[in-house]
Parts: sequence; structure tokens; C-alpha cells
Amino acid sequence: MSNPFSQDLLISEEQKELVALVKEFAETKVKPVVEQCDRDDTLPMEVYEQAMEMGLHMTVLPEEVGGMGLDHLTNCLLMEELAKVDAGFAVGCSANGLACEPIMIGGTKEQQKYFASVLQQKKFAAFCLTEPDAGSDVSAAKTKAVFDEKTNEWVINGTKCFITNGGVASIYVVFAVTEKDASSPYKAMSAFIVERDLPGVSVGKKEDKMGIRLSSTTEVIFEDVRVPADHLVGGEAARGKGFKLAMQVLDSSRPTVGSMACGIAQRCIDECVEYANTRKTFGKPIAALQSMQFKLADMEMTTQVARQYCHYAAQVQDSGIKPYSKLSSIAKCFAGDNAVRVATEAIQIFGGYGYSKEYPIEKLLRDAKIYQIFEGTNEIQRVVIAGNLLRGY
Ligand code: CAA
Repeated sequence: MSNPFSQDLLISEEQKELVALVKEFAETKVKPVVEQCDRDDTLPMEVYEQAMEMGLHMTVLPEEVGGMGLDHLTNCLLMEELAKVDAGFAVGCSANGLACEPIMIGGTKEQQKYFASVLQQKKFAAFCLTEPDAGSDVSAAKTKAVFDEKTNEWVINGTKCFITNGGVASIYVVFAVTEKDASSPYKAMSAFIVERDLPGVSVGKKEDKMGIRLSSTTEVIFEDVRVPADHLVGGEAARGKGFKLAMQVLDSSRPTVGSMACGIAQRCIDECVEYANTRKTFGKPIAALQSMQFKLADMEMTTQVARQYCHYAAQVQDSGIKPYSKLSSIAKCFAGDNAVRVATEAIQIFGGYGYSKEYPIEKLLRDAKIYQIFEGTNEIQRVVIAGNLLRGY
């Protein structure tokens, strides 16, 4: 069954072809492994490798450095398609893009080329910002990087947690405090490129997550890790600008995150339409009941609106208009809340079967929940929205 309105009808032929390609990949390669990987909490590494062959881990990287060179709108379309089949797999792919963003936004040309060359070898990357005591409050980060003038190296110490791709990445972008005497915590951080195989880098606790279990989430620990001076993202001139860089990265990634949440919501709708047309009660399909129709209508309405808003935010981003933080936060927050609401309603439509692991619905709710938490909780999105509103943006 396919709902022709489950994607944007106004997209170009090229975008439609890419969406069709990713849809086929997701249906034929990802779908068969989802149930087992979700149950056993394992990663489908071979399927990830195939996704990387297609370039799905470097969608928004420019073509000149080996990426697919897609705009953010197209990225939203593709990540929604992956998330319809498995949101964890979509997160595992798109988290590479998240790790690339600081380099693309703030890195030097050499750093962009180097970072891309690692991903081109079908390697994972990870964005290391969150710490045990610095989640929503990024400026409370404790990870430190101290410059050693004798060796011309930075020495990094600290622990990052809840890192997507943490356990599988070959390269990390790590945010650390470099300016201990800065006038404000917002001027204290910088970002570094850190290779996984350097002495002192280790992977800590692996999270046993409620959902998105086809993605790796771990601690990453840095103990006296030495990186050369040229691994400081953006070079000397970027020292102390890491907080703002992280904010710009999150602005950039949130519309795509919202689109993944739309993928989950759309999958719920598709499953519910099929179920409502076949499941009978009181002698007729439950689709004939107005109570079911109203639920479906609400699910469809809010999901269409969420999708269009994510696309709008991505288009504004692609147009270069700034600031677009408020739009990004609205997209992520509305789409994340919507996914949880729609998945909860989907369970209600399926009744007892929706609560059972025999059907895919309970997993959709488990997957949806993280979209209200990661990439900035939806409370933080409201802080950003209200803050921008009150400043007149
Ligand atoms: N772009 C550029 N600069 C920005 C900015 C933006 N979007 N947002 C804030 N800034 C600047 C401000 O202008 C201000 O600059 P000055 O000091 O020069 O005036 C400075 O940064 C501080 O801004 P705020 O006063 O707004 O800072 P705050 O501490 O009150 O709030 C926050 C910041 C919005 C709460 C921020 O910390 C935040 O977004 N937190 C959420 C973090 C988050 O999303 N974490 C997710 C981790 S990644 C993840 O989950 C990925 C994964 O693995 C899947």
C-alpha cells in the first residue's frame, strides 16, 4: 500500500528518483533485519555498509569532497524514507552527517577534505557534545583540551555520553573547554577532530535503549588523548567559538531530525489504515467507525503539517536566510511530539495487538519517544522558540 501524499508532491524528478532508490533500499535491505536487530540489540553492519556505498552517511557533504552534495530538503526526504522502515537505522546514517556539520560549517578546507576522506572509506563518524553533567546545558561541559607547546599538540581529557555511533565511529568531533579564563562559558569551548585509534580513546558504557536499537549509543572516553594542533576545528582563529558552532550544527540538523519523526508517524498511519480496513468488530471493519476515522484524520492532519514545516525549515536553511533557529526548533519539536502522539493513537487503534510485540506498532512508539529527547529535548526547543520570539525573530 502506498499513500501518494505521504511525501511532498511538489518535489523535483531528481528528488523523486532518490526517494524511490532509498525506499527500495529500506524495504529490501533494512526491513528484513529490523525485527531481529531490535530484539537482540545488534547492529546490521552489512546493511550499514551498503547504505554507505550509496553515500547515505554523507548526504549533505559537498560533491567536491566526495559527498552526495544534497541540499537539506532532499536530506529530509531521504531520512524520512529510511525512518519509515527503521528510525534507528536512519539515526545511525544521519548521525554521520551531524558529525560532518561542525567541519563543514567551521572547519578549514583541509579539515573538510580529511574528514570526508575518512567517511569515503565507509567509516562511521560521531558528534561528541553531551556529557554526564552537560546535556541540555551545553555550556557546563567539563571535557578539557590543553595545548602542549613542546609537542604542538592538544591533550584532551573527559567523558562524553549518549553518543550516537559512539561504539562504531572511526572519527569523532569532540567539543572541549580550551579557554579556562574565558569571560563567559559560551566563549570557552572549541571543537577537535579525534581519531578512534589514538591512544587514550575508548568506548565506555553501551546504552541498552528503549528504542532506535539499530543505532549505536555509547559513552566515549578521552584520557590524555593527544591530537596535532591542526585538529582544532577552524584553526587558532576558532578557539573559544565551539559553543556557537555546536548551536549552529544543531540548528542545521533539527529539520532532518523532525523529518525522521515524520517517517515514524507516516508508518503508523500506513499500518493503521491497513489494519482498520481489515480488522472487523461488530460485523464490520473498524474503519467504518467514526471514532477510528477521527483518530486517523487527526493523525494524518498533524503529520502532513509536521512534514511540511520540516521541509519549510530545511528550505529556509538551504536558501541561506539567517537566523533560522526558531524554525528548526519548531520543526523538530512539533514533529517529535507528533510522532509520539500518533504512535500512541496507533496502539489504541490496534488495541491489544498494538501492545503486543507481534505487531510493529509498539516499536514505533519506542522509537518515537527519543524524538522528544535527543538533539535537544522538546523543552529546550521551546526555550529556543520563546527566546527567539521575545528577541523579535
Ligand atoms: N547560533 C549561534 N549562536 C547561538 C545560537 C545559535 N543557534 N544559540 C545561542 N547562541 C549564542 C547566543 O547568541 C549567546 O551568545 P553571546 O554570549 O555572545 O550573547 C550564546 O550563544 C549563549 O546563548 P544562550 O544565552 O541562548 O545560551 P543558554 O545557555 O541560555 O541556552 C541552549 C542554550 C539553547 C539551552 C543550548 O545549550 C541548547 O541548545 N541545548 C541543547 C543541547 C542539545 O541539543 N544537545 C543535543 C546533543 S546532540 C544529540 O543529541 C545528537 C545525537 O546523538 C543524536
